[in-house]
Amino acid sequence: MIIETKMKEKLLEEANQAKKMAYVPYSNFPVGAALLTREGKIYTGCNIENATYGATNCAERTAFFKGVSEGERAFIALAIVSDHPGFTFPCGICRQVIYEFAKDIQIIFQNAEGEILTLYTKDLLPYPFSEDDLAKTKEAKTNEC
Ligand code: THU
Repeated sequence: MIIETKMKEKLLEEANQAKKMAYVPYSNFPVGAALLTREGKIYTGCNIENATYGATNCAERTAFFKGVSEGERAFIALAIVSDHPGFTFPCGICRQVIYEFAKDIQIIFQNAEGEILTLYTKDLLPYPFSEDDLAKTKEAKTNEC
């Protein structure tokens, strides 16, 4: 589903608001995300860091986990913003989480200059591991003599 320019702007605005909530004492690299559901609801997220570093949660995952934990399963677009002059692309773990719940959605990036870039899930994770791979393994085992 392709979202219209007005909705893209709204999502970017929400992501920018969420960025203000980022807890980033270690990296000082705030990120904001806004995730749109098929019904038009928006879940926002920011990155939440931790002294162990490894327990850090990225903005994208915060948004997805908020939505999924509220019972949402159908997402149609995600906006990601940071203060970096370049676009901030999701880390590998977030790409996998995005793929799990949103296999073909628009992902809208805005850099600190205000430039906008729109990609799709498969641009970010072209050779995904998914539930299909697990199903194939089960099938192969069942067919074994
Ligand atoms: N980060 C995100 O929240 N999303 C991204 O897309 C890339 C990285 C966070 C994790 C960490 O808090 C900080 O940015 C620096 O890596």
